[in-house]
Amino acid sequence: MWVLGIESSCDETAAAVLDADGRVRADVVHSQDALHARYGGVVPELASREHLARIRPVVSAALQEAGIGLEGLQGIAVTRGPGLVGSLLVGLSFAKSLALVYDLPLVGVNHLEGHLMAPFIEQGPPDFPLIGLIVSGGHTSLYLATAFGEYRCLGSTRDDAAGEAFDKVAKLMGLGYPGGARIDGLSLTGNPAAIRFPRGMMARGGDDFSFSGLKTAVLTYLQRDHGQTPPEDLAASFQAAVVEVLVHKTMSAARRHRVPRVVVSGGVSANTGLRAAFERACQEAGMELFIPPRRFCTDNAVMIAWAGRQRLLMGQRDPLELTVSARLRL
Ligand code: KG4
Ligand code: ZN
Repeated sequence: MWVLGIESSCDETAAAVLDADGRVRADVVHSQDALHARYGGVVPELASREHLARIRPVVSAALQEAGIGLEGLQGIAVTRGPGLVGSLLVGLSFAKSLALVYDLPLVGVNHLEGHLMAPFIEQGPPDFPLIGLIVSGGHTSLYLATAFGEYRCLGSTRDDAAGEAFDKVAKLMGLGYPGGARIDGLSLTGNPAAIRFPRGMMARGGDDFSFSGLKTAVLTYLQRDHGQTPPEDLAASFQAAVVEVLVHKTMSAARRHRVPRVVVSGGVSANTGLRAAFERACQEAGMELFIPPRRFCTDNAVMIAWAGRQRLLMGQRDPLELTVSARLRL
C-alpha cells in the first residue's frame, strides 16, 4: 500500500510517501523556523498562512521525489491533532480534497502516535508492551503502550514541555529561536557539573514532570552571574538537569510496569546528552532502547504516513467529515 502522509500541526509543512513495502520514498519538510524566529516563538496566524502557501508545493515535491502520481496511491494519512487549529486545518482540508477527488481512503493520525512510532519507520513494527517518552516543544508525556493504538498516559508535564524549557533558556542566553539544538551544541564542550540546577519533581509527582522551576533558576542565575559563567557550562548544566529527570522518571516507570523496552521520541530526543544518558541507563538495566534517527525526531510527515499506513492496513478509514482536534490526546 503506497501512502501519502501530510503533517501541518505546528510550524512544519511536511509530506512523505511510503511504498508498498513501507519503505520511505519521499520525505519533504518545509520549516518555518526563520519566519517565527524574530518573535521568539510560533505565531499561529503566520503559521497557518505559511502552511497555505506551502502545502501544494510540498506535497508535489514529495510525489515527485517518490516518482509517483496521486493516482498511484492507495491511501492518505494526515495529522488531525493535537496542534494549532489553523495549521491543522490546512493539512486536513488539503488531504480531504485529494481523497475526494482521487477517491482514496483517508485516515486521520494523532501526531503523538506518529512521534511514538518514529523509531520503527525503518525497522518495522515494535514488540509490546513498551514505555514511551515523548519530549518535544509542545509535549512531555510518558505512556505505557500495550499494542499499536493502545496507549495509557502515565504522566505529563504540569507546566512547560522539555523542549519549551530548552527554547526559553536558549532565549535567555541570547541563542535565538528555536534554541534546543544550540544548547545541545554548546553542551558538548561544557561542564555539566558546573552549576547544580534543581531537578524538578525528581522525588515526587509520580510520572509527572515540571520544568518551569528550572527555567526560573536559570534566569535567576543569569541575573546574578553578570556573564561570568562560560555559556558552554551554563548550557551543559541546564541540559544535565533536564536529562536526569527525563531518564530517571522513564526508567522508574519501565521498572514499575516490568516493561523491558523504552521508546524516546519527539524533537528533544535529538539531543546528544539525552541519547547518551538513555543508552547508558537502558544498557545498565538490560532494557531495549528505541530512539529515532535525528531526522525523524523533529516534526516530519514520514512518521504520520507510517502510523497512518498501519491503521489503513488494519482497515481503518475516516469519513470526509473528519475534523481537526487541537487538544487530541493519546
Ligand atoms: O517534535 P518537534 O519538532 O515539535 C513539536 O511537536 O513540539 O520538537 C521541537 C522541539 C523544540 O523545542 C526544539 O528546541 C527541540 O525540539 N529540539 C531540541 C534539539 N533539537 C530540537 N532540544 C534539545 N536538543 C536538541 N538537539
Ligand atoms: Zn511534534
